[in-house]
Amino acid sequence: MTRRLTITAFVALIALAGATLAQDGAAIYATHCASCHTSEGQGMGTFPALADSEFMQGDEHPVIDIVLHGRGAMPPFAGTLDDDEVAAVLTHIRTSWGNDAEPIDAETVAEVREAEEAEEAEEIEPVEVDLPEDWFERGEAAYLMSCAACHQADGEGIPPAFPPLADNAFVQGPADELIRLTLHGRAGMPAFAGTLDNETIAHITSYVRNAWGNEAHPVDAEMIEVVRGGGDLELEPTTPTTRPGAGE
Ligand code: HEC
Ligand code: HEC
Repeated sequence: MTRRLTITAFVALIALAGATLAQDGAAIYATHCASCHTSEGQGMGTFPALADSEFMQGDEHPVIDIVLHGRGAMPPFAGTLDDDEVAAVLTHIRTSWGNDAEPIDAETVAEVREAEEAEEAEEIEPVEVDLPEDWFERGEAAYLMSCAACHQADGEGIPPAFPPLADNAFVQGPADELIRLTLHGRAGMPAFAGTLDNETIAHITSYVRNAWGNEAHPVDAEMIEVVRGGGDLELEPTTPTTRPGAGE
């Protein structure tokens, strides 16, 4: 008796959840899609019909893909609708106006979204950094000559006079700021623009960005020249770069 009641309640709950989903789908369609595809999915002019549509009833992935990312005059909804909402609106369309296809669930939408994002991440070309294989060793040698008297060989500095460079957020920040400081100095920090060439500054800054717990992309002589000329590198610390040789 109790058991039958429980089952009945459970079935009612599923029916209710289904009804809510269908309702959501209809509401989302009315808000976001009907202006172009018309309220009954008949389409008009350049807006294709979604009613009685082979494409709509076909493979799930291409259908999800066009709603997430748009195509031509069809806007992308990846930023506007979450996975549940995309699933709901597509399920609504796939089960209305002469369409009779399987519903689409939020997990499948999430799969398509993630696959696309992974592809985009791979497409970012790493910045080529032109350095010799032994840039880390060269950087260390030049650092010991030019910087260690104040910042110490272990990068711990002598606070408060000489700040530590070890485990330092500024050192690991945007490379152009570190390069600018090394070139032009500041307060008690001497300028090195006149005494060190671009290659040496590239090796030193790459070294300090990767020594003593620091981790940030290295830089090359061409980048130093850009900053020397007053330019910006427009590279974030997280920009993927090639990291030749040692110190990887
Ligand atoms: C601003 C107008 C506009 C809105 C809003 C819009 N669409 Fe579209 N949609 C288009 C156009 C235009 C195309 C044709 C794109 C092409 O192939 O160049 C299209 C194509 C499609 C297709 C492919 C149909 C086929 O047979 O190839 C689907 C599916 C679709 N839209 C679904 C939706 C859904 C779902 C929404 C709401 C979340 C929506 N669209 C909102 C304009 C719109
Ligand atoms: C004569 C001592 C001296 C030498 C040599 C020196 N620095 Fe400095 N450095 C300083 C002082 C002092 C400061 C703090 C400047 C300030 O108060 O703004 C500083 C600051 C810095 C900072 C900023 C740290 C932070 O957290 O803001 C960096 C990075 C840096 N130096 C790198 C170098 C590099 C690389 C070299 C070698 C090419 C070098 N320094 C050589 C004295 C020195």
